[in-house]
Amino acid sequence: KTVVLSFSGGLDTSICVPLLKERYGFDRVVTVAVDVGQPQEEVTMATEKGRLIADTHYTIDATEKFVANHIFPAIKANGAYEGYPMGTALARPLIAEETVAIAKKEGAIAIAHGCTGKGNDQLRFDFIFRMHGYEIIAPMREMNLTREWEIEYAEKHNIPVPVVKDKPWSVDENIWSRSIEGGKLEDPAYHPPDEIFHWTISPQDAPDTPEHITIEFKEGVPVALNGEEMDGVSLIIRLNEIAGRHGIGRNDMVEDRILGLKARENYEHPAATVILTAHKDLERLVLTRQELAFKHGVDDKWSELAYMGLVHEPLYHALNAFIDTTQRRVNGSVDLRLFKGAVHIRGRSSPDAIYSDDLVSFDSTTLDQCHAIGYSVFFGLQARMLKK
Ligand code: ARG
Ligand code: SIN
Repeated sequence: KTVVLSFSGGLDTSICVPLLKERYGFDRVVTVAVDVGQPQEEVTMATEKGRLIADTHYTIDATEKFVANHIFPAIKANGAYEGYPMGTALARPLIAEETVAIAKKEGAIAIAHGCTGKGNDQLRFDFIFRMHGYEIIAPMREMNLTREWEIEYAEKHNIPVPVVKDKPWSVDENIWSRSIEGGKLEDPAYHPPDEIFHWTISPQDAPDTPEHITIEFKEGVPVALNGEEMDGVSLIIRLNEIAGRHGIGRNDMVEDRILGLKARENYEHPAATVILTAHKDLERLVLTRQELAFKHGVDDKWSELAYMGLVHEPLYHALNAFIDTTQRRVNGSVDLRLFKGAVHIRGRSSPDAIYSDDLVSFDSTTLDQCHAIGYSVFFGLQARMLKK
């Protein structure tokens, strides 16, 4: 009896390994760690730990797939939930699919994960594992374990416990976003200390001179930074560094989870903030008024489905098809200024612009302004007729 465990190398998923044998009666535990651009030390730690404690361990590098199949669609859809660029939500379906692929290969009958019964991740994972017909085992959710019990249990099973003296928050990271929650941060009134942030400097400590950058888009996705063509992974990594040192892309918010629980969340996502700002701006130059208005609602619905991880919902595919059609014209470049926590647009241009400076200019006579007189006669007619 084999079970595959979605593995991060943290305390929770580590104690799942012996638990799955002792409490759940499996004879073989296969761990799977998926690299979606989290810090290399984390991936190395998960790999070493998995090899040490599991019967078989896999580390899958899925960063390129993550960018191509999940981040690029999110850019095209201006993907944001309650105002922040989603990160964790985008990576979960991919991590789940990679885990399923190993479960098939290993002939597992069940898949386990370390999510709690209070968050979103359990639902995002379960959806995909069930979709593929696997039994789901979630010890954290099923056993209501305390941290103290977990540490003792780990020590009893010779599982290295990271020096958790004071590891006061839970962090989830991928190439697009870093989220920090839990511990003292659970009090929404608590002021987060600067040390929770690893990707961004505090805006007041950012350089006193602005930095100017240019992002070029092709069919709705970024293809070059400051004139240099780059693949998506390199561009996002580079931009996280640049925008992070200007203190861009922090969010501190109270978020509505899928279950309805409100949770206090901190995020940092420098590249995402800059790319989404530029992308939205470029769309305003190349999409029609009708497209922009309609797409706004589509983007919201897309984001809701992505937040829930419902990537096999037929509507999700239908919305992607609509979005892709609009993005064929989202080509061009956007100049931006990064300065003390803020990103501003300096200018934009596109070969597909629906823009004529000749038509709109007050100084041009190409368009006879007298044509507007007739339009004006009918404009607001019904409201005017109602006036007593
Ligand atoms: N609230 C976010 C989401 O559901 C992020 C949760 C990340 N988890 C964490 N342990 N920091 O997408
Ligand atoms: C968890 O509760 O397992 C992590 C947080 C979340 O899923 O929202």
